[in-house]
Amino acid sequence: MRNSITLLEERFGPGKEAITARAPGRVNLIGEHTDYNGGYVLPFAIDRQTVVTIRLRTDHIIRIYAAAFDETFEASLPLVSPPSTGTWSDYLIGILLEIEKHANLPVGFNGVIAGDVPLGAGLSSSASLEVALTLSLSHLYNIKLEDLELIKLCQRAENRFVGTQSGIMDQFVSLLARDKSALLLNTTSLKHRYIPLELRDVALLVVDSGVRRSLVSSGYNDRRHECQEALHLLQELMPERGIHSLSDLSIDDLRQAESALPNTLMMRAQHVIEENERVLKAAAALEREDFITVGKLLFASHASLRDLFQVSTRELDFLVAWAGEHGALGARLVGGGFGGATLHLVPQDLAAKYTQNITIAYQEAFGLNATTIEVRPSPGAKELESR
Ligand code: GLA
Repeated sequence: MRNSITLLEERFGPGKEAITARAPGRVNLIGEHTDYNGGYVLPFAIDRQTVVTIRLRTDHIIRIYAAAFDETFEASLPLVSPPSTGTWSDYLIGILLEIEKHANLPVGFNGVIAGDVPLGAGLSSSASLEVALTLSLSHLYNIKLEDLELIKLCQRAENRFVGTQSGIMDQFVSLLARDKSALLLNTTSLKHRYIPLELRDVALLVVDSGVRRSLVSSGYNDRRHECQEALHLLQELMPERGIHSLSDLSIDDLRQAESALPNTLMMRAQHVIEENERVLKAAAALEREDFITVGKLLFASHASLRDLFQVSTRELDFLVAWAGEHGALGARLVGGGFGGATLHLVPQDLAAKYTQNITIAYQEAFGLNATTIEVRPSPGAKELESR
């Protein structure tokens, strides 16, 4: 990757101090579609990052170049809420609109966005962009943001301006992850703790189906509404229980509500409740370095995402089924679903051959190229360099 300061100077010429912030993408080991249902998630940051380098200007112009798209966004401050365009600059505008609520930005800036998080593959390139942008901008303009404030600001930018009703997991782990650890997060209390995730004899491979999806246009928001609807019905049915989220319920509670809930909503709620249990079991298994159990939980999570939550695709199902037949300890789709990538937990000594063979099998089945990257649990953002 080209040095981002060099890139900044190539695009916009030399200048004084430049701020660089880096924020990683993430893989969610387990706990999918639970983060907007008050449940548990167990993500880790990966060794792929979005890098933002910015430098103040003396006028009110902002110019920011996104290397991945070879495009420059230009506007002038203060931003008067422009319409969203469904492109990368929505993230930038969303973040700037939120930051402008905290402070008045007296001058503009030049910036570049670079990095190596694959886009649209379920690895949270968007959250890593939001976190890197917010870190660099808050530093540049001297705006004090506590960790949780920063995380919530990024989530609001995505919810309000970009239009994805995403939960809080991605931004949380991008900022607060630790090296060689997964982060067990309770998305109701926002309490979290770190679970050691040292990959000695196992490898974690992300196999990208190459089928791109956009969370805004995918069924992500539909699923969120369905969960909301299920919650409302259950709250009406059990007013005495003071239920705040689907995660307040047990499978027994759900069984009792069977006749009152349409089947689809039952399935969505069942996924959430059982997925929470799987997350806690996976965290306990990781603490014992019991990767066999973790693997089984990954397969079970995929089956539930496929059959109950219905966010899988033929391609993702193929990759996970192939995993089961070729020595993986576990595999599942990662992220929102409807395309994107799968995560495979495989014995380390199998990893190279496995990667080769799954690519061939996938090519034969779909005529598509599956790209695989090996990921390692890595530290979160927060490193800021100024020069
Ligand atoms: C996307 C969202 C997350 C989470 C996952 C599904 O990645 O950004 O908040 O809801 O989908 O678990």
